Amino acid sequence: MSLGLRLAITAAGAVAVAIGIASGVMYFSVQRSLIQETDAVLADRAAQVRPVAPRVVVGPPPTRTDIPGAKLDVLMQFVDGEGRILRGPMAEIDALPVDQATADVAAGRAPAFFTDVTAGGTRYRVLTVPLQEDLALQVARPLTEVDAILQQLTLTVLGVLVAGVVLAAAVGGLVARASLTPLDRLTRTIEELTRTRDLTRRVESGGHDELGRLAGSFNSLLAALDTSLRSQRQLVADASHELRTPITSVRTNLELLQRGMLEPDERERVLGDVVSELARLSHLVAELIDLAREEEGPPAPAVDVRLDEVARAAVGIAAAEWPGVELSLTAEPTWVKGDPDRIERAIRNLLDNAAKWSPPGGEIEVAVRAGEVAVRDHGPGVSEADAPHVFDRFWRAPNARRMPGSGLGLSIVREVARSHGGTVGVERAEGGGALFRLRFPATAGGLAPAAS
Ligand SMILES: Nc1ncnc2c1ncn2[C@@H]1O[C@H](COP(=O)(O)OP(=O)(O)O)[C@@H](O)[C@H]1O
Ligand SMILES: [Mg+2]
Repeated sequence: MSLGLRLAITAAGAVAVAIGIASGVMYFSVQRSLIQETDAVLADRAAQVRPVAPRVVVGPPPTRTDIPGAKLDVLMQFVDGEGRILRGPMAEIDALPVDQATADVAAGRAPAFFTDVTAGGTRYRVLTVPLQEDLALQVARPLTEVDAILQQLTLTVLGVLVAGVVLAAAVGGLVARASLTPLDRLTRTIEELTRTRDLTRRVESGGHDELGRLAGSFNSLLAALDTSLRSQRQLVADASHELRTPITSVRTNLELLQRGMLEPDERERVLGDVVSELARLSHLVAELIDLAREEEGPPAPAVDVRLDEVARAAVGIAAAEWPGVELSLTAEPTWVKGDPDRIERAIRNLLDNAAKWSPPGGEIEVAVRAGEVAVRDHGPGVSEADAPHVFDRFWRAPNARRMPGSGLGLSIVREVARSHGGTVGVERAEGGGALFRLRFPATAGGLAPAAS
């Protein structure tokens, strides 16, 4: 069942219940007041007869001469203690029904009472009152008019009920359709998107209501997916471009060897080339995988990490790997939230670069405090023109071509910083050399996390 239909049915049901309750209350209150009116008339007429009772008990119905000033618009009947009718109504009916209760009133055993009776096919309202010893008076009025009014009322109420339900269903349907149209549009856009895989499409958001917000978040989702897909495609394009050169070079060298017309020492050189090209290739592939993982990976898990300890471990590894440089570390205890392995990889990439660009025996100073790792070397530094590019994928300074490297190291650092909500930047250090700063949002100013 569609949402629109459900809304229409609910609206119609609610209106039906409301009208039902209202008309029920109205019906019974109208009925009550009509009966009360009738009862008042009957009581009044009975009171008029009481003073003249001894004279009018026997014979034909009383007339104006019998009861001067009385309104004789009711049927009257006198009944004795045995239930015998002493004087009947003499109207279109011979007698009002008499039962034990009537006789009881005449005999003085019971008080006056009202009843509804049917006589001669007509409904009457009857008041039975004790008149004097061994005599009861019954006054009656037909209920025809009251019944007609109530019947008319029932018909009117039913009409209102049907009209109300129909109207409510129609309005409910219209409102549902109007408010569901944007939802429909959203659904259709999503279906079309699923079919075409076109992530550049956007949903018309229109309005600040719930549906507008839904469309808005859907658009944000699309934008995020689009960005991610683009960067993935770009990475694949860049990577295949970068992989092509070393693969071509390996192939050329292997073809040379295949022809087998090389001097032994030349053969050695070509083989050496092939081996180092392949090493470069596998290094490149490993970094590519790292980068892809960083770019696509989920946000860093929020574990409390001792940044200074992680930096210490990275410095230890770099010191063993680069014996030709002097590494020094000044660290204050500082905590950040994130993934220690990924943070360590980022720091190691910075240390590798610093070592690579340091003059022989050059010093590298690493300083850790308040969620920040600063790596400073005494190499050529990064020129102002190059600074905006060093974190780009595959970007390497023109003078870096003769150095081993892929141009991915700093991109990985940037991605690690980004996925931790941090930043990385490069400056020219005072007195020459490069100074890279890797910053993470420090927990509570980089101090110990609250004991948990
Ligand atoms: N410490 C540094 N000193 C001077 N230049 C640097 C330094 N670190 C990085 N660079 C420059 O940034 C470029 C990109 O670095 P990176 O992404 O690590 O790639 P790779 O180290 O593989 O060349 C390097 O090629 C180099 O030109
Ligand atoms: Mg590098």
